[in-house]
Amino acid sequence: MGRVAYVNGRYVPHDHAQVHIEDRGYQFADGVYEVVPVVDGVLVDEEPHLDRLGYSLGELRIAWPVRRQVLRLILREMMARNGLERGIIYFQVTRGVAPRDHKFPAKAKSSLVITTKRLKPPSAAILENGVAVSSQPDIRWERCDIKSLSLLPNILAKQAAHEAGAFEAWLVDEAGAVTEGSSTNAWIVTHSGEIVTYPKGQGILGGITRQSLLQLAATRNLRLVERSFTLDEAKAAAEAFLTSSSAFVLPVTRIDGEVVGGGKPGPVTRQLREIYVANVDAQIRAAK
Ligand code: PDD
Repeated sequence: MGRVAYVNGRYVPHDHAQVHIEDRGYQFADGVYEVVPVVDGVLVDEEPHLDRLGYSLGELRIAWPVRRQVLRLILREMMARNGLERGIIYFQVTRGVAPRDHKFPAKAKSSLVITTKRLKPPSAAILENGVAVSSQPDIRWERCDIKSLSLLPNILAKQAAHEAGAFEAWLVDEAGAVTEGSSTNAWIVTHSGEIVTYPKGQGILGGITRQSLLQLAATRNLRLVERSFTLDEAKAAAEAFLTSSSAFVLPVTRIDGEVVGGGKPGPVTRQLREIYVANVDAQIRAAK
């Protein structure tokens, strides 16, 4: 079965999918996106992702391209047409096609593009050994809460991390705090057992995986603290990990080449990954 993309009302072969050159997403990155994990053919945390899409659209005064309920149906159709069992579904909404002019166009209709991608779960080796991160300056704008298509600082940070042999960049702001990763949220576990992540607000993207994990962990006897932490605190922490829709919960065992938590995933990180995966399994059971 060939890959199928959705472009403004049409299901088209992925290789031939096109948008207009005056789409404002192409010209200005004037749009937003979502990435929703799919496991066993089920969308994980679909409603929170759609809520966040609505938030991003609202902050930028971009209209929904189709009604929410219609979008839910198109997402399912895309999974079926692509035979997507495990991976991600990507959807982006732009302000639409209009002659290039910075001001909002008077009449443009929002564009909707959707693609799917198969992904394997992280390898046993990654789960056993964790990943490395490299610190990079956080040079982004002050509305990181909007899931904007405009990702140049994130791309530059991820590339620099990649060239440094790391899996992810951890972004450090002017005050020395680790805000988040280039496409993941950043967490540490302190020696006293506190699970720490940067507070939700305009400084980070409020990750859906982050939010789910906070809710799941709160129902257990785990101590969660939303506060900033420095790079030095992270390097000296008992454990570190990252979260995202594609990675779920991944142990971080090296920061800038320095070993964290003895170089192996710690017990709290393992427990949180198990709690998260169990919640995904529960969503799959509920959907079937
Ligand atoms: N990235 N922080 C940033 C800057 C992100 O781009 C992402 C998601 C996250 C994690 O959010 P969530 O748990 O909702 O996936 C945090 C997606 C996966 C991407 O850009 O591909």
